[in-house]
Amino acid sequence: MQGASAGPTIQMETRLLDALTLSTRTASISEAAALLGAGHLVAFPTETVYGLGASALDADAVRRVFDVKGRPPDNPLIVHVHEPEALASIAVLDDRARAIASAMMPGPITLVLPSQEHVPLIARAGLPTVAVRIPDHEVALDLLRAAGPLVGPSANKSGRPSPTTADHVLNDIDGLIAAVIDGGPCRVGIESTVLDLSGDEPVILRPGLIDAGAIERVLGVTIAYDEGGTHRSPGTRHQHYAPRVPVRLIIAEEPPVIDTRLPLVLTTKRHLDAFPRAVSRIVSEERLYALLRTADDVGFDEVIIYAQPGELSTGLLDRVTRASGARR
Ligand code: TXA
Ligand code: MG
Repeated sequence: MQGASAGPTIQMETRLLDALTLSTRTASISEAAALLGAGHLVAFPTETVYGLGASALDADAVRRVFDVKGRPPDNPLIVHVHEPEALASIAVLDDRARAIASAMMPGPITLVLPSQEHVPLIARAGLPTVAVRIPDHEVALDLLRAAGPLVGPSANKSGRPSPTTADHVLNDIDGLIAAVIDGGPCRVGIESTVLDLSGDEPVILRPGLIDAGAIERVLGVTIAYDEGGTHRSPGTRHQHYAPRVPVRLIIAEEPPVIDTRLPLVLTTKRHLDAFPRAVSRIVSEERLYALLRTADDVGFDEVIIYAQPGELSTGLLDRVTRASGARR
């Protein structure tokens, strides 16, 4: 393996560290923590998607995360920690942040808050704010306990669907990172809800499994979604979640008549039989990204996603809309 200063163009052997069984997990996590401590990059499982880990306080390691992903430098990263007490070492918490942390963390939610000064500017793309989260996954929590705070963007090449298995990570960045910890498939399957608490009005910058209603019940105020236009979340400016195959999203009362030669149809269970001449699969948060990657691997001509109005959750509708290129 190359030294920590090696750039992303220099290939290294990416180690696959098994954390699927208790007997291998401890050794895998120690090894991963040692690699991270030496400035290397290690992908790790969370409940949402796999993250590309680097020590959050090591600016050089963080810079290589941007290089490996091909990520624009204006798109800030999330800092992951292992317990609510550790959040204050990264961000400045107010009562709202403390309420969310005690009600929902660990869990698939990220808070944007004023940053502590020592968090490298490169991790937060020069912003005065920082995104923080505590993943609800035993392997991630053990790793964070051993290695300290980690930046963790999704461990895909920028613009590709996020990885929900260790294999997906290897498909995108094998040879560019020191290791990937295999913790099996991710339970949630789409990225965390990003809630901006840096201003007076809380705003959801990225929808996820935790929706506005759940946050409203904790904070007791109405929560708005940042609907495209204002772009307060730099990451949502860039195209995301898209396979190489074209994706067509159809939200309509009646199933469409399909004219594509070899389409993959993703739909809800209720409409699965409406497409007898196509390969059709049930779409869900958990399976979406794996299905989009399969569409590329198998070589379908087009992915058609069909649902009736109101059938998909806010988080799932956001991701399929972006995958179809209808919203950037
Ligand atoms: O579920 C997740 O959040 C996964 C797992 C690995 O934890 N991580 C993830 O990271 O999705 P990433 O980098 O792919 O997405 C981070 C999102 C981006 O949309 C980014 O623009 C936004 O969070 N973000 C980060 N810091 C921000 C900040 N200071 N202000 C506004 N948005 C921010
Ligand atoms: Mg991402």
